[in-house]
Amino acid sequence: ARTAVVIPAAGRGVRLGRGAPKALRPLGGIPMLVHAVRAVARARTVALVVVVAPPDGAAAVRTMLDEHPLPDSAGATDVVVVTGGTTRQESVARGLDALTDDIDVVLVHDAARPLVPVETVEAVVAAVRDGAPAVVPALPVTDTVKQVGPPADGAGPGAPEPVVATPERALLRAVQTPQGFDRATLAKAHAQAPTEGEGATDDAGLVEALGVRVVLVPGHEEAFKVTRPLDLVLAEAVLARRRA
Ligand code: C5P
Repeated sequence: ARTAVVIPAAGRGVRLGRGAPKALRPLGGIPMLVHAVRAVARARTVALVVVVAPPDGAAAVRTMLDEHPLPDSAGATDVVVVTGGTTRQESVARGLDALTDDIDVVLVHDAARPLVPVETVEAVVAAVRDGAPAVVPALPVTDTVKQVGPPADGAGPGAPEPVVATPERALLRAVQTPQGFDRATLAKAHAQAPTEGEGATDDAGLVEALGVRVVLVPGHEEAFKVTRPLDLVLAEAVLARRRA
């Protein structure tokens, strides 16, 4: 019985602006993906990390990981690289295909959340090992969130968006990764998920579609996703604070 982490890292990082694929961009001089791999490998229970690289970037990712080996404190963690697809959902599915038979708990962790504390990773693993089939770290939302509808008939591009609903903020949570699963449950969720369109933006959503109960554990502010340029500023500041 062993735990693996699938790290989807095949996104192009369009919202971050021009440059290399997001996972390869440096934070504190070290590629974002390396931070993410180290963060999950720090958890003692993690025996295997499957990195899902951009379709044309597997060799570059392998070279980069070899240039930044795991510290001895990571123990015996294998790191393998596979290639991803056009959506996050497809990339995760490719990662699941690469798991070895001995794995019974799977975490999925965004490469774009490089600074997740090990305590969050361990809390997710512990909740799955205690019997929850699907576990998601989450935080309350600070912004009020609006649901929008389609633009009015005849409205051109850039027309104001109509608001259709305001969900009660106290009932909303912003979810993070790593999301943790009983392996068989996650495999089934991906096997029955529709593959057309944009795909699912999180894995727990696919498990919910099976009718399986998903539970939340406390997330962490430092597990934020590096998506836009300002997030890079925040990530650099968090790293500088840790190193001080
Ligand atoms: O696009 P989003 O911010 O949801 O991406 C979350 C994670 O999914 C990132 O780590 C990104 O590299 C990964 N991803 C992927 N394959 C895609 C799109 C996104 O592995 N086709």
